[in-house]
Amino acid sequence: MILHPSFDIGNSGHLTIDGLDAVELAERFGTPAIIISENRIREMCRMYRRAFSENFGKGSAPVYAGKALCFKRLYEIMAEEEMLADCVSSGELATAFAAGYPMENIFFHGNNKTDTDLEYALKLGVGHIVVDGVDELLVLDEIAERAEKKQKILLRITPGIDPHTHKKIITGNVDSKFGSAIVTGDAERIVRLALTLENVELCGFHCHVGSQLFDIDTFRDAADIMLRFIRDMRDDCSFEAPVLNLGGGFGVRYTEDDPEIDYAENVRLLADEVKKMCQDLGLKLPDIHMEPGRSVVAAAGATLYTCGSVKEIEGFRNYVSVDGGMTDNPRYTLYQSKYTVLNASHAGEEADFECTLAGRCCESGDLLAEGIKIATPERGDIIAVLVTGAYNYSMASNYNRIPRPPVVMIKDGEPYVAVRRETFEDIISLDN
Ligand SMILES: Cc1ncc(COP(=O)(O)O)c(C=O)c1O
Repeated sequence: MILHPSFDIGNSGHLTIDGLDAVELAERFGTPAIIISENRIREMCRMYRRAFSENFGKGSAPVYAGKALCFKRLYEIMAEEEMLADCVSSGELATAFAAGYPMENIFFHGNNKTDTDLEYALKLGVGHIVVDGVDELLVLDEIAERAEKKQKILLRITPGIDPHTHKKIITGNVDSKFGSAIVTGDAERIVRLALTLENVELCGFHCHVGSQLFDIDTFRDAADIMLRFIRDMRDDCSFEAPVLNLGGGFGVRYTEDDPEIDYAENVRLLADEVKKMCQDLGLKLPDIHMEPGRSVVAAAGATLYTCGSVKEIEGFRNYVSVDGGMTDNPRYTLYQSKYTVLNASHAGEEADFECTLAGRCCESGDLLAEGIKIATPERGDIIAVLVTGAYNYSMASNYNRIPRPPVVMIKDGEPYVAVRRETFEDIISLDN
């Protein structure tokens, strides 16, 4: 196994993904291609669902954050796995709807939902809208009235936590485009307003405090602040929130340097803390939701590229260029996110060639990794970047008019195309 159960080295010395030879997959489906293990995603969904119902109770559940990986087939899988889902745009809603996903199971997020977004969400019958601020709340109330609906909502609250220091800094994160802060009094004001409106039904609160979190510290701090807020709103406004959503953020092991994480154990530890806090505060345990995105899909994916030019600049560095790059994975360019890279054609050989992995865009910042070591590559080798299931395909672009890669899923050892490769015609077809 390399990092995660889907990745290994086969007898041929090639990388395998869910037991399939990566070089053969590349030959069959072309490169670049994003390969995703359907089985792995389903396992993660089942693990999270079980962990929530066993530790928090029946109404508590994971909500898959579709921003991590979004296309029709994924929503079909989420529907089959009975996962709730979080969408952040009308495009994601449209995708879920087209897949036949039950729209009442959706939580619709966004710091700037347009009137059109809100009308569309109501038309599709979205279960809950996570309202970000006062103006959205007022517009939604009007739209719901016109639609003759009482729309269920959560309010997005900013608890004021700095996930980087893992400290409860009460002003941390208040300076955010998302949500209403507790410390400024905005959170209380929006609760009071929501309770006066006739066309929305306030069902609870939502917060999101960070990403790549490998333990429960930040979630526990957020829960502590949010549960105190629930108690205050119960005492001051006679509203005891039945739902508390603690957002996404569980971490994923991208490289050997990242820690291992037992998600179910973390949910259990958090549930113990949350139950104790509720007891101390004299609160009923609300239904607890969390919104894992990355941790559901990241480790299910790998991207296969073909090696093109190998350029050794003596005294400087070696560049290995592949036939994809920031257009299918912008995360290194955006955040210098680290990945594990292998020469999939020679995965069993010593990784002794130090290099920078470069994309093909006309942009010197178009890199996928720096300072990595892979088995000495030559033109035509298949290069794999592991753990690309999250925030790769969903962040892909057509910069330089490069078509987006296909998503090839593997189910029970059988690969199939879940999203076909984009063509030049697809791209040009939008031009008048
Ligand atoms: C509101 C909200 N929920 C869930 C997520 C998913 O987080 P992750 O993919 O880190 O689990 C995000 C990510 O930005 C988010 O903003």
